[in-house]
Amino acid sequence: MGNLHVLNHPLIQHKVSMMRMVETNTKDFRALANEISLLMAYEVTRDLPLESKEIETPICKTQAKFVAGRSIGVVPILRAGLGMVDGILTLIPNAKVGHVGLYRDPRTHKPVEYYCKLPIDAEKRTLIVVDPMLATGGSAVAAIQFLKDRGCSDIKLMNLIAAPEGAKAVMDAHPDVDIYVASMDEKLNENAYIVPGLGDAGDRLFGTK
Ligand code: PRP
Ligand code: URA
Repeated sequence: MGNLHVLNHPLIQHKVSMMRMVETNTKDFRALANEISLLMAYEVTRDLPLESKEIETPICKTQAKFVAGRSIGVVPILRAGLGMVDGILTLIPNAKVGHVGLYRDPRTHKPVEYYCKLPIDAEKRTLIVVDPMLATGGSAVAAIQFLKDRGCSDIKLMNLIAAPEGAKAVMDAHPDVDIYVASMDEKLNENAYIVPGLGDAGDRLFGTK
């Protein structure tokens, strides 16, 4: 069974609170999304395997630890997921990036696919799917299924803010996927927006409303 990790480090909580504020402008919102994503990536990669290699310091030869095993892929769910990519790449600059394009139909709240482009060796990588919001979970469940349909099996999900309904939907559909969130909020409202949430993440990141 995948685990749900709430990454409530004080710096993360502080930055999430600033993102929620209605007066936070696009420039600051964007910066905060990347800063939180960087901090979260530190925890998401905590279980990466290490291998020892002999190196030489200015003093002597020694066995030193290096990250081993699978390479990382970051998969933003378009478009709001893009707002998390740079922060993660600051920490993991060699990661490749795939894109899954989904939007929520405003009437049905169901995800509609419009784009999917992955690194050619995606199935050999540990993939971190990123999206600021996990609301009903429809988008994340569908995005993870696309990756599985293309042979990927080592998948983690990273969201800034989640609703309990969305976390449950992902855990039910993809019990093998670990979920990392900065905040587990209270509930969804009648429009399937997260309460208290931060509003429409895509619009706030890109200034489209
Ligand atoms: C938002 C958000 C998620 C989705 C979450 O995207 O970025 O992808 O909604 O909702 P769900 O858990 O109920 O599926 P949106 O559809 O607004 O598209 P956008 O990123 O292009 O703004
Ligand atoms: N998408 C968003 O951007 N915000 C929500 O609260 C729910 C879905």
